[in-house]
Amino acid sequence: MAEQICLLSRREIDKMRQAGRLAAQLLDHLATMVKPGVSTLEINDEAERWTQAHGAKSAPLGYHNFPKSICTSINEVICHGIPNAKQILKEGDIINIDVTPILDGYHGDTSKTFFVGNPSPTAKKLVEVTEECLRRGIAAVKPGNRIGDIGAAIQEYAEANGFSVVRDFVGHGISHIFHTAPQIPHYGTKGKGKRLKPGMVFTIEPMINEGTWEAVVLEDGWTAVTKDGKLSAQFEHTIAVTKDSVEILTLPD
Ligand code: MF3
Ligand code: CO
Ligand code: CO
Repeated sequence: MAEQICLLSRREIDKMRQAGRLAAQLLDHLATMVKPGVSTLEINDEAERWTQAHGAKSAPLGYHNFPKSICTSINEVICHGIPNAKQILKEGDIINIDVTPILDGYHGDTSKTFFVGNPSPTAKKLVEVTEECLRRGIAAVKPGNRIGDIGAAIQEYAEANGFSVVRDFVGHGISHIFHTAPQIPHYGTKGKGKRLKPGMVFTIEPMINEGTWEAVVLEDGWTAVTKDGKLSAQFEHTIAVTKDSVEILTLPD
């Protein structure tokens, strides 16, 4: 049997909001480091230091043996890129930084894609469309709507702009557990899937590709890249379904 979808109490959602705020503040802090010449390991190490200094833990570190504290996914990397001293940001790159601090037992999971210097027109459009996909996915959330409404909104906008939606990685329920039910596909059909209820907390994290949606995982067992080597972008928020709408938990203030 599949896991149950937990409905969180107001107290638990307060905890999720605190963890989410810390995650958003961490991401804003790391954004200031995104410049040509900086290695992804330097960003990772500052994330780990900052997280500990704020009384939190990095959920990715050691999660199913993931070796670092954040994910850094550059250009054709879809997600789960591993920070590395030899990986140096260069002018024109796009990089997704994905952070998940655990504060007082609860997870805040958020990511953004940043430009290193000036992007190509295609990179700029892909990143802007991906951010709008997240916004539209969130706008599809309210009690009584269905999980398929979220993916349908995202897929429609991505494909109307000539891009594709990654299938192999999905949003997820999150609380004191990093990844739990429900799964939130970023593609799908309006009116399908389980109904959304107040107290559900999950991520929406569309990965949108310039070319094919197909992914390949590298030898390291983590790094997911586009099959055609073209660009991929991602944005992620953790959200709660409220009594009559939605609350984004991963905002900085
Ligand atoms: N933060 C990622 C997500 O959005 C998960 C990273 S798992 C890790 O769900 F092990 F790669 F860190
Ligand atoms: Co994440
Ligand atoms: Co996530």
